Amino acid sequence: MTNPPSPIRQLHGGPIPAWQQAGANYVWSPYTPMKTAPLPIPVVATEGVCLVLDDGTRLIDGMASWWTACHGYNHPHILTKVTQQLQRMPHVMFGGVHHEPALRLASRLAQLLPGDLDHVFFSDSGSVSVEVALKMAVQYWLNRGVSGRSKFLSFRHAYHGDTTGAMSVCDPVSSMHSHFKGFLLEQFTLGVPHTDEDFSELDRFLRDRRDSLAGVIIEPLVQGAGGMKFHGPESFARLRQLCDQHEMLLIADEIATGFGRTGTMFACEQAAVVPDIICVGKALTAGTMSLAATIATDRVFEEFWSADPAKALMHGPTFMANPLACAAANASLDLFETEPRIARVAEIEEGLAQGLEPCRELVGVVDVRTKGAIGVVQVAELHHLEQLRAALVAEGVWLRPFSDIVYMTPPLTISDDELDKLCSAVRLVMAQWVTW
Ligand SMILES: Cc1ncc(COP(=O)(O)O)c(C=O)c1O
Repeated sequence: MTNPPSPIRQLHGGPIPAWQQAGANYVWSPYTPMKTAPLPIPVVATEGVCLVLDDGTRLIDGMASWWTACHGYNHPHILTKVTQQLQRMPHVMFGGVHHEPALRLASRLAQLLPGDLDHVFFSDSGSVSVEVALKMAVQYWLNRGVSGRSKFLSFRHAYHGDTTGAMSVCDPVSSMHSHFKGFLLEQFTLGVPHTDEDFSELDRFLRDRRDSLAGVIIEPLVQGAGGMKFHGPESFARLRQLCDQHEMLLIADEIATGFGRTGTMFACEQAAVVPDIICVGKALTAGTMSLAATIATDRVFEEFWSADPAKALMHGPTFMANPLACAAANASLDLFETEPRIARVAEIEEGLAQGLEPCRELVGVVDVRTKGAIGVVQVAELHHLEQLRAALVAEGVWLRPFSDIVYMTPPLTISDDELDKLCSAVRLVMAQWVTW
């Protein structure tokens, strides 16, 4: 064992720019113990798949800015479309107003999504789109004249966002929101079903709770922030069947998996499942700015199709359907049509699988897995987290290991060389880290 590195003050060892010196004490960072955390990396620009630091250092962004930058950064087509929209109309409210970027985007999403997921409600972040989905599901039953169906079943290791309703359907025990027990609404949690026995349990559960459950919410195929756990399309397809059998609404949270990440445009496609409600966000605008959407099938929408104001969906974020964000999303969809993005995901999966395989031999590593453009190295216990992050930065890559995993979700435009560099940095640093 070598000595562990001493605590670090900055994630990147370069000079601290004046603007960071001046402003750092005034910002509150996400998911961060503020007293001890090292100074974040000072990013001044993005280029291709890289973050450019104040001193000119370039880091390969192995996580595409939290899964968003699917076409890499600063794609000229997206920049052009957003710039044109910026000059014409950066924003207008959506209550009582229609604008072309939003309507075009809604119709394109409806065409892209499976089945009759045709009714698009825009919002400004993934968590809010989950809030809307939960509210829609509860009101679906109320509008049908059924009372009491206001609870949800979600799954262990689930993560659906940081707002209150979304937190209530995250894993109540192992998630970062566990200490809010008592404040959050109590929901139901089961393990993601895999075996026949699991499905029998789920079957019983749905039958017994039929009168209190509004629906079931799941991240199809990949549970992201709860630890990058994968489940097969068969499990998801069987879940759909059981929801049908017990008349449950099925909500698919594709905020992380949507737009190619798992190898198809939407993860649902691999299971041939049409959920009743789907949430998308993150890569919707290719990481340009925040936009999300909750999209419902005809069956759900029909219950809101009424002249009665009490049956309307009472939700309307100020910045919903922001025209700039919609222009970015439309430009991103153009690129999915004109560039071989989805085909590239299979190659990235292969590259990640090969590049990370040697990590399996390292002491402390318990699993190496890939799904689409997602690569995961899972360890028994992730110690010296900040030092690990800093060592990865020193090797020229930006990753943010957490919980018990080092994971990669690179831009889908990453080249073979960049992918090699990303994987070799992980191999090198993980080999050192196990000795700390
Ligand atoms: C599956 C899933 N749902 C919801 C969210 C919340 O999205 P946002 O951070 O845009 O609120 C995330 C974010 O990581 C997510 O991965």
